Amino acid sequence: MKAVILAGGFGTRLRPLSCTRPKLLFPIGNKPLLDWTLENLAKSKIDEVILAVNYMAEAFVHRYGNTAHGMKLHYSRETMPLGTGGPIKKAEDLIGHDEPFLVLNGDIFTTINYAEVVKKHKQNDATATIMLYQVEDPTRYGTVELTKNHQVIKFVEKPQKGKAPSNLINAGVYVIEPEIFALIPSNKRVSIEREVFPKLAAKKRLYAYSFEGLWIDIGKHEDYLHANRLLLSTERRKLAKTKGTSREKDVEIDAPVAIGKDVKIEEKSKIGPYAAIGDNVAVGKGVHVENSIIFPNAIISDFTSIKGAIIGEGAIIGKWVKIEDNCVVGDYTMIKDNVTLTQGVTVCPSKEVTESVLSPKCVM
Ligand code: GDD
Ligand code: MG
Repeated sequence: MKAVILAGGFGTRLRPLSCTRPKLLFPIGNKPLLDWTLENLAKSKIDEVILAVNYMAEAFVHRYGNTAHGMKLHYSRETMPLGTGGPIKKAEDLIGHDEPFLVLNGDIFTTINYAEVVKKHKQNDATATIMLYQVEDPTRYGTVELTKNHQVIKFVEKPQKGKAPSNLINAGVYVIEPEIFALIPSNKRVSIEREVFPKLAAKKRLYAYSFEGLWIDIGKHEDYLHANRLLLSTERRKLAKTKGTSREKDVEIDAPVAIGKDVKIEEKSKIGPYAAIGDNVAVGKGVHVENSIIFPNAIISDFTSIKGAIIGEGAIIGKWVKIEDNCVVGDYTMIKDNVTLTQGVTVCPSKEVTESVLSPKCVM
């Protein structure tokens, strides 16, 4: 069976980190989101994956080439963004007309069992079957109204507050029959949620099932940190093992944490809980990193504290620095000694910050 992964979004809400890498390559527990998805697909006996790409397509080709976890990888490159439906039509020849196929929103971190989804689809005569997840606030998502036998009567994308038909949202995992190709125009930006699903619902050709388990859309920085926390909690034991890491004896590791390869941590530092430290990161003395994601090759100097923040690749953080909740420091940024970044400060890539920033803003 084939799977299409929608991988072409700009990740606008994840700037500045998405300025230098597509959001599907953001590490979660030190492994790119897309690796987790590909691994999960391979477990469900998918043999070919089509990555629908446009923004930073080369980053994907460079990392994965033409195979991953025993599956063949194809790239369907857009010359302009085709939305969430257009890429499916564009990949028509790669997908073929022989059997149903999976479509995934690539920015979802989930442990869903794709083989089960395919089974569900086969229970009905449907053009598409979508998976649903229960959330408190459905306004950021697509929502559905369902019959008792799982038929979707209504699909509403991004409903206004109080107007959602239910709290069951589109989880961005679909099984679709090739007959869908006739419903999507070629070479046009098409939203499957706004232009295709409502029509299928009206024709009684759309079914939906909810699932429980791990699911999160990595749309915003808070979601990304949350996904990291969830992953660290579930993979607690595996991630504690590290290669080439050197730690002084009195370093405190407060699980769950993920520590990459060739990380150096000096004395009296405390890592965790919920910290993911990427490969080749250097952590000085008396540092505290908690509930944060540190991208590879960053340097964190002595007596610095980082809590609830994301530090980009190769960033250099000076001594006695304090970085608070929801701060995002872009790649190759330099934060000088004694600087405090208060809650919600964002620093663009390659900037130098010499003075404290004590109100939430973007340093450009
Ligand atoms: N190839 C390609 N081209 N992919 C795209 C494009 C494009 O032009 N635009 C977006 N994508 C990809 C994104 O990378 C992402 O993986 C997926 O399509 C969904 O796009 P988002 O921009 O993340 O949409 P959303 O999160 O606001 O809403 C979607 O996901 C929700 C679940 O998280 C919708 O499908 C909602 O209905 C759904 O509830
Ligand atoms: Mg999304």
